Amino acid sequence: MTEPGGLQRAARAIADRLYAGALIVASTGAGMSRESGIPTFRGAEGVWRQYRAEEVATPEALARDPAWAWEFHDHLRALVAAARPNAGHLALARLERELTPACAVRVITQNVDRLHEAAGSSGVVRLHGDILRVVCPRCGWEEGDYPVPAPAAPPHCDCGAVLRPDVVLFGERLPEDQLEEAFALAETCDVMLVVGTSVVVEPAASLPVMAREQGALVVEVNPEPTILSRAVQHSLRGTAGGVLPALVEEVLRLTQELDS
Ligand code: OAD
Repeated sequence: MTEPGGLQRAARAIADRLYAGALIVASTGAGMSRESGIPTFRGAEGVWRQYRAEEVATPEALARDPAWAWEFHDHLRALVAAARPNAGHLALARLERELTPACAVRVITQNVDRLHEAAGSSGVVRLHGDILRVVCPRCGWEEGDYPVPAPAAPPHCDCGAVLRPDVVLFGERLPEDQLEEAFALAETCDVMLVVGTSVVVEPAASLPVMAREQGALVVEVNPEPTILSRAVQHSLRGTAGGVLPALVEEVLRLTQELDS
């Protein structure tokens, strides 16, 4: 758990950084959606204990054994399709709702679910795609809400090619427009919240480093320490659903105090 007073100190530091036109960015990873029933990738209960990434989540794996790669993706797709935003997602959406238009609040996520959008966050930057969406690598056909489970493992396009979920596989480039926007946000934000990521997968791992280097206040929320914890101004030990509602409540309270 966060040391006593740690949350209040972080909230005060965030409120102190806010002014008309300030930008708060939340950079989120798999831990953000853990309390919505979607497992993380690393750690004791992580997806990569059950599946080997190189067998299911690379372009080569999809070409070599599409049935197995699709079984893996459909396992995650079923969890994502059933998931609802948790208190952490709702808290970030509330922060945006209550600070707009005085300040901007943006989310950059590595997650392939749609839980930030479902909670009400707008303009979410998606670095790793959307697992419920499916595309044809040959003819470009796409379907935003492809059935869960897929009608076959693997499913085929009418053109004959094996379809793929619209996610970034290991070794692939991230969508250029999303990456550019994420870097621009990291370079200009006043505050960055780093929530539920092990901060090991690039280029997302560079975002808090960029934010810290350009002078932003960086606040981490994670039940475990990460490589980032000692490099940022505030590292709060706890879950997204446990810490974010209290942190947002306190920031909004302090902000109202500033106004009055
Ligand atoms: P990881 O699985 O690597 O890390 C999840 C982090 O969430 C860990 O640091 C946990 O301590 C933390 N965590 C666990 N439960 C939490 C909770 N309830 N609240 C807050 N934090 C919690 O996930 P990512 O860092 O997102 O890539 O992984 C990055 C990328 O690696 C993923 O996007 C995926 C994966 O391979 C692709 O699919 C391309």
